[in-house]
Amino acid sequence: MLFVASLLAVSATALAPFTVPIHKSAPFHLSNVPKQERHAASARSAIHRFSTSPGSAPLENVYNFLYRANATVGKGQILTVDLDTGSSDVWVRGAKCTSSDGSCDGPKVNTADSTLKSTGKTYSITYGSGSCSGDIYTGPVAVGNAVASNLPFGVSTSEKGLAGVADGLLGLGYNGISTISQQTGTSANWFDALGFSGANNKFAFYLSDASNGDSGEVTFGGVDTSKYTGAVNYVSVNSQTYWQFDISQVSYSAGSSSGALGGFFANNAISDTGTSLIILGTSQADAINQGIGAQPYNSTLGAYYIDCGIAKTGPSLDFKFPSFTLSVPSKYYVLDNGDGTCISGVTQGAGFLTPSIFGDVLSRAYYTVYDKANNKVGFAKAVHPQ
Ligand SMILES: *[C@@H]1O[C@H](CO)[C@@H](O)[C@H](O)[C@H]1NC(C)=O
Ligand SMILES: *[C@@H]1O[C@H](CO)[C@@H](O)[C@H](O)[C@H]1NC(C)=O
Repeated sequence: MLFVASLLAVSATALAPFTVPIHKSAPFHLSNVPKQERHAASARSAIHRFSTSPGSAPLENVYNFLYRANATVGKGQILTVDLDTGSSDVWVRGAKCTSSDGSCDGPKVNTADSTLKSTGKTYSITYGSGSCSGDIYTGPVAVGNAVASNLPFGVSTSEKGLAGVADGLLGLGYNGISTISQQTGTSANWFDALGFSGANNKFAFYLSDASNGDSGEVTFGGVDTSKYTGAVNYVSVNSQTYWQFDISQVSYSAGSSSGALGGFFANNAISDTGTSLIILGTSQADAINQGIGAQPYNSTLGAYYIDCGIAKTGPSLDFKFPSFTLSVPSKYYVLDNGDGTCISGVTQGAGFLTPSIFGDVLSRAYYTVYDKANNKVGFAKAVHPQ
C-alpha cells in the first residue's frame, strides 16, 4: 500500500486538518510477498539502551512501504505504532473501535488500566490515506526507553483506510497541527513531553532497505553516528507545523530530465516518515518518471508503474539544494509490490497548499535528523549493511 500518514494539507491558520484526496492503494498485499522476503523484512533486534537518557528503538520495516515501532501504553500494553513525522497526534486502537474496512482488526488498548484516565474529550483526524476518531485519555506512552508519562492521546472508536497499517500512530510533527492539543488545550506533543533540551533536543531515523533484512532505527535525544557517513546537511524549518522547508531554490535531475522542484505557490516540502513515497507536483513527477523510465501516471493506482529491473540499472534521482545534493540511487526508488510488478518511488499529489513530501524513499537513502533545538531537518548518507 502507499501509505500517507501526513495530514497532507497546510494552512498557517487552520489548525483542524481538512479532507484531502485519498491516495489509492497500490496492488500491494502482504500475502503475496515471497515468504523469504517476509522473513527478512521482519528481522528485528533488541532495544538498545544508552547509559544517558538518549536511546534508540528498532523499527519494523513492512516491505519498504511502512516502518513501525512498538509503543508501550499504560501498564505494559504493547501496540505497534507508525512513527509519523508528518502529523502530531498520538493515538492507538481502542476496544470500542468499529470500521467498515478492517481498520479496527488487531490488538486494542484496554482502557481499564489504572494509569489511563479519560479526559471526556474526543478527537477526529483525517490523514492522506485514512481517518480516525475517538476518545482522549491521558497516561504513559513509551517507545523504547523514551517515556512520556502523562500524555494526552487518542483511543480510537472509529477508523477508516488504516487496515494493516499499525495499531496506532505516533506523530512527531510540531504542536501547531495537533488536533488533540487543540481539543485539550494542553500540549499533546509526545516528543516535547520527553523533556530533551539543548543539543539533545532532536531525534533521527535510519530506514532500512527490505533487501538487506535489517531493522530500521529511531533515536530520541541524539543521533546514531553508526547509521550515517559524512556531513549532515541541514535545511531550516519555515513553518512549525510539519517539518517543512523551502524548495524554491531546489532543482531535480533524473536521467535526461531536469528542472525546478518548486513552483509558483508550491515552494514548500516536508520530510515525512509516515509517507511511503516522494510526492511532488504533477509536472515534476511526470518529468522525473520519464527520466527514470517509468510508465505514465496511473490514476487508478495513484502511482507510476516501473520495470522492476530498473532497480539495478536506473539513473540516480538527484535533488540539488543550494549547498548540497541529495542523490537517491535506483534501488531505493523502485518499490517491489511482491507480485512481479514495481512502482516508482516518486508520484504526483503536491500543489497549491499541499507541500511536496519527501517520504521513506528519500529517508532510506539519507539518515534524517529532526532537530527541534534549531528547527532544522538534516540529511546524511545512510549506512546500510553490505
Ligand atoms: C515488538 O514486540 C514484540 C513482542 O511483544 C517483539 O516480538 C517484536 O520484535 C517487537 N518489534 C519491534 C520492532 O521492536
Ligand atoms: C492502472 O492500474 C490498475 C490497477 O493496478 C490496472 O488495473 C490498470 O490496468 C492500469 N492502467 C494502465 C493504463 O496501465
